[in-house]
Amino acid sequence: MLVLGIESSCDESAAAVVEDGRKILSNVIATQIPFHEAYYGVVPEIASRKHTEWILPVVKESLREAGVRPEGLGGIAVTSRPGLMGSLLVGLSFAKGLAWATGKPFIAIDHILAHLYAPHLENDIDFPYIGLLVSGGHTIISVVTGYDEFTVLGTTIDDAAGEAFDKVSKFYRFGYPGGVAIDRLAKEGDDRAFDFPNPSLHKGAHRYDVSYSGLKTAVINQLDQFRNPAYPKTNENIAASFQKAAIGLLVERLLRAVEDTGIKTVVAGGGVAANSLLRARLAAVPGLRTIFPSPVLCTDNGAMVAGLGFKFLERGDRSPLSVTASARVPGFRRRYP
Ligand code: KG4
Ligand code: ZN
Repeated sequence: MLVLGIESSCDESAAAVVEDGRKILSNVIATQIPFHEAYYGVVPEIASRKHTEWILPVVKESLREAGVRPEGLGGIAVTSRPGLMGSLLVGLSFAKGLAWATGKPFIAIDHILAHLYAPHLENDIDFPYIGLLVSGGHTIISVVTGYDEFTVLGTTIDDAAGEAFDKVSKFYRFGYPGGVAIDRLAKEGDDRAFDFPNPSLHKGAHRYDVSYSGLKTAVINQLDQFRNPAYPKTNENIAASFQKAAIGLLVERLLRAVEDTGIKTVVAGGGVAANSLLRARLAAVPGLRTIFPSPVLCTDNGAMVAGLGFKFLERGDRSPLSVTASARVPGFRRRYP
């Protein structure tokens, strides 16, 4: 079955055609990065205006590359939550219109579940596994037991992982998107130059939670306090030391979850899953199977939406055309028993 997946929750206008949840026939991503770069962050009004301009050509191109006409599709999947309201509505309204006009089965998709599906596009993965979702908006460590079944172990109690990269980068003008710029700069730096503190919350109910606001404050406001005088204060050294602390925190919590549950497979998704240090650190853990999507499938894309859409359509799920967008999704703070 060929499924069209449409994604417009943030700043990528994206559409893809995927066969049977696995074979990517097209994956078109029109990135808005150049339009938000000057502001060092996504400007919601600019994002929704660009989606409005781009959605039709992006969807057309995805169908053209896949060599399929709308009549040949087995279903239409679209991100309906969470994300920027104006941006979500563009993709969702477009997808509803197309589904109504063609009479094709229609399914609304949760962006967080779609990110967790991304590694399934390229790998055979059995449940359960420890799912790590790290993006600009979310940081979730969970036990995943199905495509839409997961139990949250830990989240961030303040900033998301990607958000911390973005805020540090914005302050020091390292580049945009922040995670990409810091990952690149860090390769030239020495991570011993600054010894940033680890957050102290790690007990009781917060066993798997992360916190980034203290680290962010240390890097931005108290930089000199943590500097090792043997090293110069360069952008590269700041980036490398921050990245070591930010990724180290994540890896520590994740390995705690692996140890406690005895589940030895970690599957990652979301923009921060593209981080080279995160990949290297987890790959070096003996006895752990780590599965990361290709970098292009870590950040927002339509293929993950189409792939997950197939799984839901296949089992008979349908969304009514009355489904609406929602900016937030409640319930990500549930605890693993
Ligand atoms: O998944 P995504 O495209 O959008 C959201 O759903 O949020 O993730 C974007 C986030 C941004 O915060 C960006 O700075 C971060 O992913 N990011 C990275 C890297 N590439 C993108 N963070 C760390 N290292 C990277 N290589
Ligand atoms: Zn995303």
